[in-house]
Amino acid sequence: MAAHGTPTPLTAPASGPLTGEAHVPGDKSISHRSLILGALAVGETRITGLLEGQDVLDTATAMAAFGAEVVRHGEGRWSIHGVGTGGFAEPEDVIDCGNSGTGVRLVMGAMATTPIAATFTGDASLRARPMGRVTEPLALFGAEARGRAGGRLPLTLTGAALPVPVDYATPVASAQVKSAVLLAGLNAPGATVVTERVATRDHTERMLAGFGAEVTVEDTAAGHRIALIGRPELRPQAIAVPRDPSSAAFPVCAALIVPGSEIVVPNIGLNPTRAGLYTTLQDMGADLTFENPREEGGEPVADLRARYSPAMRGITVPPERAASMIDEYPILAVVAANAEGATHMPGTHELRVKESDRIDAMARGLRACGARVDETEDSFTVHGAGPGGLPGGATVAARLDHRIAMSFLIAGMAARAPVTVDDAGPIATSFPDFRPLMERLGARFEAATEDA
Ligand code: S3P
Repeated sequence: MAAHGTPTPLTAPASGPLTGEAHVPGDKSISHRSLILGALAVGETRITGLLEGQDVLDTATAMAAFGAEVVRHGEGRWSIHGVGTGGFAEPEDVIDCGNSGTGVRLVMGAMATTPIAATFTGDASLRARPMGRVTEPLALFGAEARGRAGGRLPLTLTGAALPVPVDYATPVASAQVKSAVLLAGLNAPGATVVTERVATRDHTERMLAGFGAEVTVEDTAAGHRIALIGRPELRPQAIAVPRDPSSAAFPVCAALIVPGSEIVVPNIGLNPTRAGLYTTLQDMGADLTFENPREEGGEPVADLRARYSPAMRGITVPPERAASMIDEYPILAVVAANAEGATHMPGTHELRVKESDRIDAMARGLRACGARVDETEDSFTVHGAGPGGLPGGATVAARLDHRIAMSFLIAGMAARAPVTVDDAGPIATSFPDFRPLMERLGARFEAATEDA
């Protein structure tokens, strides 16, 4: 499953019961941040459990290009010798962030208050995504961006020589925007403040505090407010990355819809700003149990047991929950297609600017599989066919989007006829072992033959 190159179609026929333990990869959001903050600390940060998906590898390469010493010691074990706040060197070449919106937006933030220039690009998916949401607040610090129309990549960012701190209210619910502003604030004198109407994933705030920065978080009338005092000396850390709840969602949802399944996903991160899917699934009647809840490395974790759940019913997902499950709507839509009744997902406009337009990708793909789906600009509704009721029998476009590819392979596992995704390559961006992991649980996939 190469992330780039020739498309690799993959077919999922109906699966027998899934059983066993699913050791999903390290958290993607936390992996990016470990590398970036490690690069900005003075001394050596050691990381275990790092996700070695292409998105994170591209961020590791970027940190080396800005002057940090990045070393891989073994599976998931990395060290990064940081250059200190404001210590980034000017990269000699273009920074290619591949498929990763998180990578490019956070790295732009991290360099925006250092007087160097860097040119950023990415794959066709990333080059189509909006960057103005990040370059606009970075301009308030004094950084200058020149990109294609609409602020699209490739884009050159020149960091501010005399940065000023910023007080910014995010116009969209985006942890990437919040994080870019906070990372830029690291090298601005005084307090940089970000206020968000809805709290998004808070790994940046947690990790900044862990590295020794002064961060205060409070809920105010204007929203969730994070203040950071600039120019701290970041102290290197030992970081154990928890397993990714967004990756866990795929085997968990597969177990819920494939008859006879029971799996355990050990050690998954259950930070409340990330765990909205699991609340939603329980609201629908999913049989989930959280075993051994504990805290590791400042993040709540537990072992999650999931059993086949034929009695799931459609619900309206509260829009205020969207930020805490934003990456999980594609796989939720697959579960919804296997539940009784309609699942309505309002307040999901942000899905239209992910690795693909995920509302459109899911609506078209599920319709091709025989489901009824309604959509508006800001919502979509999947009309469930009941357990095992999805006809399937379609080839669906993955659109350079790992989560679309994985969602439709899981749809095929519970459908009446096999489902093919036209390119499983993008799965390597976040979940390189997806196929062997699912096969160990009992799934069966078939690579399409050359002339298929
Ligand atoms: C992420 C934030 C979210 C999410 C993405 C990871 C992060 O994006 O969809 O997969 O690590 O900050 P937005 O900030 O665009 O909501």
